[in-house]
Amino acid sequence: MLPPGPRTPAFWQTYRFVTRPRETTEWQVAKYGDAIRFRSLIGNGIAFASAETARQVFAADPGTFDVPKTIPALFGPQALLATAGDTHRRQRKLLNPRFHGARVKSYLETMRRVIRGHLGVLEGAAASGTSVVIRDLSQTMTMDIILETVFGVRAEGVERGRARAILAGLMSSMAPSLVSGTFLHHRWFPPWRTFLARRAAFDAWVDALLAARRASGDLGSDVVGTLLEARYDDGTSMGDPEIRDQLMTLLLAGYETTATAVAWGVYWLLREPATLARLQEHIDGLGPNPPVDGLVRCPYLEAVVSESLRVEPIVTDVARLCKKPFTVGRWTVPAGEVAVVNLLAVLSDPRLFPEPERFRPERFLDRTFNAAEFLPFGGGTRRCLGAAFAEAELAIVLGTIASDWKLELASNEPERAVRRNITMGPERGVVVRVLGRRAVDHAGAKVA
Ligand code: HEM
Repeated sequence: MLPPGPRTPAFWQTYRFVTRPRETTEWQVAKYGDAIRFRSLIGNGIAFASAETARQVFAADPGTFDVPKTIPALFGPQALLATAGDTHRRQRKLLNPRFHGARVKSYLETMRRVIRGHLGVLEGAAASGTSVVIRDLSQTMTMDIILETVFGVRAEGVERGRARAILAGLMSSMAPSLVSGTFLHHRWFPPWRTFLARRAAFDAWVDALLAARRASGDLGSDVVGTLLEARYDDGTSMGDPEIRDQLMTLLLAGYETTATAVAWGVYWLLREPATLARLQEHIDGLGPNPPVDGLVRCPYLEAVVSESLRVEPIVTDVARLCKKPFTVGRWTVPAGEVAVVNLLAVLSDPRLFPEPERFRPERFLDRTFNAAEFLPFGGGTRRCLGAAFAEAELAIVLGTIASDWKLELASNEPERAVRRNITMGPERGVVVRVLGRRAVDHAGAKVA
């Protein structure tokens, strides 16, 4: 059985959700409840909008689902985002340990060094009285963190400049017209030609990087190094084409998402001075220059990171293409249609998060939420591979800004969430004035 839903044409429904996901979600949930029949340009289906229905989608047998054709066409056939079933499970088993626990811990010092380096811009802005757009700052910062931790490009210089240009070029060539279907994936379509040229430049750059690593005999301790040494259960290693596809996926899935989340986090802390003061109290309590793993484990900072991802979900929804009929409660998604989990609906469900529009990190200290309730990174076997990496980066940036800098928003006008490719980001990018460095007397009271 199919649930009720709007009867407007697919184009209109897609346009409404893409441009105004929050308003669309609010009225749809109020009118139809937690399962909504939809028509869209990526296919028809059912959108699930409660923690219980999300749980059932995430718990489903992965063999139920396939991946839409656009994904392998853009990311490459062996990219984690593009594979399904057994191949996907095999890849996750190999990749998961590279993004969890000790591995992420080994990247923390690098993250902090890169972050501190970039925050130096605030010094100049304080001196000159110019304002700073946090999203611009967070983008260069996130790019350099990926360059160091994933690709091992360390020193500032020609090589780093070239790498930045290749990666940024590839990302900017992923036009929305190429993402919404394969019908424009033809050489006569200029954006597709641009995309192919940039992807070829990326592949050539990665090939040179892999050849240099092998020639030097030191595979490296960054993500590239761990992919080169990784072995599947049957003893085989990843081929170079697969490594290229995985690196492209990590870049595209990890860059804009994290940079946008940083901008939102800074915005909410500056809008809520009492919360910022409480965070500063907790971080000051860790002593001068706390070890970086102590900082990221500070419970109030963790709560700030979670609340920021909840109040402004970066990704509004995740989709699963059903190979066979898929039943959730009373409803069945027909074969060939799409099961969507509306992350935004769950993260702003007042039954779970009272006064959902308020930024209140304390809610994460008052109770724990299960994986289907707090789901900014999606869920199930496809849950974001980089979640721990992103949370650590967010904690370090927000913790360092809160402890070291005095900033204020340049405008009292609230930021509106607008879509940029797949992410929802602050429309003006969070413009701040820098009032100076914060000084703390760790023997006692805060000095400034
Ligand atoms: C705040 C930052 C981030 C957010 C909000 C985010 C969110 C998401 C979401 C919602 C998904 C889809 C999950 C699903 O289908 O259920 C996803 C998948 C993925 N993300 Fe992230 N992500 C972030 C950062 C990162 C980073 C830093 C990396 C890598 C370093 C990364 C790598 C991936 C990969 C590889 C997948 C595909 C997983 C799969 O299909 O098995 N993400 N992410």
